[in-house]
Amino acid sequence: MLSLKPRESPTFSLDPAKMREIFEHAKPLGHYEDQAGLNLGFGFLYYGLVRSLRPRHIVVIGSGYGFSVVCLALALKDNGSGSLSFVDPSYSLLKHGPLRTVGGTSQWDEPEKVRAHFARFGVEDQVTHYKETSAEFFAAYERRRLPDIDLAFIDGSHAFADVRHDFLAVLDYTRRNSYVLMHDTNIYVRELVGHAGVKRWLNLIERERSAFEIVDFPFSSGVALIRIMCEAGWRTDGE
Ligand SMILES: C[S@@+](CC[C@H](N)C(=O)[O-])C[C@H]1O[C@@H](n2cnc3c(N)ncnc32)[C@H](O)[C@@H]1O
Repeated sequence: MLSLKPRESPTFSLDPAKMREIFEHAKPLGHYEDQAGLNLGFGFLYYGLVRSLRPRHIVVIGSGYGFSVVCLALALKDNGSGSLSFVDPSYSLLKHGPLRTVGGTSQWDEPEKVRAHFARFGVEDQVTHYKETSAEFFAAYERRRLPDIDLAFIDGSHAFADVRHDFLAVLDYTRRNSYVLMHDTNIYVRELVGHAGVKRWLNLIERERSAFEIVDFPFSSGVALIRIMCEAGWRTDGE
């Protein structure tokens, strides 16, 4: 049971200095942000969701410079509880090509640098990085005895088959009233040429009204919030 008693020294991390630091070093891309106005865009949504829902375990799949991870982890820190598993094999566009990643920049190669990156924001104790693909991560989930997922953020490979895989793999560990965020629902041209399939996947699960409630925010690259209403392990016959 969550305690709603006020903590002895509550913290609120999103002061202007921290937000400048986020813009400079966690470099949001496509999150409806506005650096000049010191507006984190969807970053406020990520932070606010975690403050209000108080998840115990968050899983983030894929991040260029850690913007989603930092916004979510700062909220865990301010909540005073919860952990975040960050899964990214550290692909880069230059080294691995556009079929593996578009926004990847090999940021997550060395464990000490990864820890220092998150320590800059004071969230190194909240974040555990797994330098592997989401398929490898979920294959090892039970062996590592990781807790169920209260909130997931899916932003890894945007190929339709990978989006489908990541969503269904997450669903193996969610419960009713877990939530999933999917980034890049509004990258119209990449969807049109078949290079991305986030919106296509959303359109497919939107028909499953007893299993999911979906709100899409089609601004900038777009993000969707999905409330899970089905049991763990839900599967579809579609595609
Ligand atoms: C950078 S994000 C996509 C762009 C993102 N929307 C942004 O705002 O920067 C893509 C990340 O997903 C990671 N990635 C690619 N394939 C993955 C997979 N199969 N599992 C987990 N992460 C993956 C890449 O290493 C890269 O860092």
